[in-house]
Amino acid sequence: METIRRTKIVDLLKRRDFGSMVNVKGWVRTRRGSKQVNFIALNDGSTINNVQVVVDLANFDEELLKQITTGSCLSVNGELVESVGAGQACEIQARAIEVLGVCDNTYPLQKKGHSMEFLREIAHLRPRTNTFGAVFRIRHNMAIAIHKFFHDRGFFYFHTPIITASDCEGAGQMFQVTTMNLYDLKKNENGSIIYDDDFFGKQTSLTVSGQLEGELAATALGAIYTFGPTFRAENSNTPRHLAEFWMIEPEVAFNDINDNMDLAEEFIKYCVQWALDNCYDDVKFLNDMFDKGLIERLQGVLKETFVRLPYTEGIKILEEAVANGHKFEFPVYWGVDLASEHERYLVEDHFKRPVILTDYPKEIKAFYMKQNDDGKTVRAMDVLFPKIGEIIGGSEREADYNKLLTRIQELNIPMKDMWWYLDTRKYGSCPHSGFGLGFERLLLFVTGMANIRDVIPFPRTPRNAEF
Ligand code: 4AD
Ligand code: MG
Repeated sequence: METIRRTKIVDLLKRRDFGSMVNVKGWVRTRRGSKQVNFIALNDGSTINNVQVVVDLANFDEELLKQITTGSCLSVNGELVESVGAGQACEIQARAIEVLGVCDNTYPLQKKGHSMEFLREIAHLRPRTNTFGAVFRIRHNMAIAIHKFFHDRGFFYFHTPIITASDCEGAGQMFQVTTMNLYDLKKNENGSIIYDDDFFGKQTSLTVSGQLEGELAATALGAIYTFGPTFRAENSNTPRHLAEFWMIEPEVAFNDINDNMDLAEEFIKYCVQWALDNCYDDVKFLNDMFDKGLIERLQGVLKETFVRLPYTEGIKILEEAVANGHKFEFPVYWGVDLASEHERYLVEDHFKRPVILTDYPKEIKAFYMKQNDDGKTVRAMDVLFPKIGEIIGGSEREADYNKLLTRIQELNIPMKDMWWYLDTRKYGSCPHSGFGLGFERLLLFVTGMANIRDVIPFPRTPRNAEF
């Protein structure tokens, strides 16, 4: 076959130089037609759209034609011609075809319309479906949007460690990292494991958040963000929890809670706008296939100013709802950690737009949050979104050395883990704030997918680490 420089399908579909000879490479989605002419829908992943390859059967060898099956990989040389059919402007009149890889009928993606559950079982192949192609192209685009947003505003991308000896959230949901022989653990007289001989000489885990190290950076570089994998061994089998997820954590010196809320709102809106501007074909596909309200919801969030409301006021609204007969699965009272049904009630039923809830009871939030004068609440902020619930968690940080130390002691957090963090409050402490956006929660919102396992290529959840 003559060598012609390959054109990606996304670029090819924009071309109008009919009559040119082109080459495309990709995987066969469908093949249909008559005894004279076949139409092959070819996709190379560069776009949701396929290019139609028109094959005059008389011009091709029968053995070759037999190998052109759903899932097979082809290299096609042909003439770019104007399409007569509706839908696409151009197609390829095939002149030469090479089968790069055959695909037999055990290929599980023969037919359309597989369930999401089934596709999760073949996560190694599901990127070849329209749905997952769209989701993973959007995922890439969101990552680019995030870097661009912060870079354009003078934030520095700061790399925090994956392996750590401290539990940022203090929730005890960490995966241990060890090279010890688990059959032969050395223990002291109290039965505690001795880590002296372990790789790091102490107990270490996978990080649940880069925030603490992010604060070190913010109080030096001014404004930073992290964007990396985080790990939580929480045994929650929900459509919104992963054991391994990606988090974006900006941290800014001199920002108070209000600046923090402004940043969060501007940031999310920027990402949503980016998806509409740069991934419209994919978003439209997901809108039409799964979630007819998706585009409207995305545009809605851009229009609305987020509600800003103290937790205490939020509880009052929820208690009123209960008094008026609304049934929640979990109880509502001041001090409770809100369940996603509560968050979604505020957002979807009561305010009908995103809500930033602030000033939570200190007992249900992490040790590092700035303490309010009431002695009961902290300057926390959770951004709550339609269909998702909590999409962002953050706070102004406690900048006062003594107050922070007292809280650390109250919660029995071992000082050997925290001395370096406290140093920020000892040497030139300053007000500062930050938050964490769950990348997959953002993707749930932007793609309209119903389950968080379907917006990350290889989900890690309890009892599931395949691929
Ligand atoms: O609210 P979280 O636990 O906050 C922190 O980790 C802070 N250190 C962030 C900060 O202030 N720098 O988690 C932040 C966000 C949540 O709002 C949620 O979007 C996401 O991370 N998240 C998860 N996403 C998927 N699976 C899980 N198990 C998640 N846990 C939290
Ligand atoms: Mg949270």
